[in-house]
Amino acid sequence: MNTEGHAERFSRAADRYYTDRLPGRSQCIQKVLELLNPQLDDVILDIGCGPGIQLIQLAESIRAGIGVDPAEAMIQRARSDAVNCQNLSFVKGSAEKLPEEICQTGVNKIYSNYVIHHLPNTHKREAIRGLANLLPTGGLFILGDMMFSDDPEKHKDLFDYVGYVPENDSPAYVSELKEMFSESNLIPKIHVLNPLVAVILGQKI
Ligand SMILES: C[S@@+](CC[C@H](N)C(=O)[O-])C[C@H]1O[C@@H](n2cnc3c(N)ncnc32)[C@H](O)[C@@H]1O
Repeated sequence: MNTEGHAERFSRAADRYYTDRLPGRSQCIQKVLELLNPQLDDVILDIGCGPGIQLIQLAESIRAGIGVDPAEAMIQRARSDAVNCQNLSFVKGSAEKLPEEICQTGVNKIYSNYVIHHLPNTHKREAIRGLANLLPTGGLFILGDMMFSDDPEKHKDLFDYVGYVPENDSPAYVSELKEMFSESNLIPKIHVLNPLVAVILGQKI
């Protein structure tokens, strides 16, 4: 399924979407937010923000936040739920095709939770490169998602826990993503949560 297909699928789910519906996904975002370590002068980009749940939680702890998602209904819900958060904006776009205005925002941290497994590996590589290019030296990119540190077939008992549906999802191996980070001048540090989910903290050099 391509990005348009995923956008349509997620638009249909926008009204009833919650990050912590699955324990594996909830554990992942908690680690992402811990590593993000929000500061009052941060300008933070959330790629695949869905209905903006995390940026809304962060709004009072950061200077500005921008959420990007290809699903129109997710962006609409985020804008409506964030109506009192003047420092947040939500823009339609994708990890591979970032909205032009993002480049002028002075983003110093980027995170993405449970999104990149939707992209084939060639698009993952391009997206990581484009996102890394937005960051200044020392900037952070935190990627939490399904990614394999072992053969997934050995861990079928975890599929429901992490929400892995082989027909819909294309997670990469941790080693592949680690290489993509390094190629994009991001020094990667890996936090494995279970054999199917990990968080990578990349620092721009
Ligand atoms: C599982 S949801 C995660 C939402 C949010 N990050 C969270 O943790 O609650 C996946 C989101 O990724 C978005 N998405 C799908 N393909 C994408 C792409 N190529 N670039 C950016 N976002 C994408 C979907 O529209 C959906 O909102």
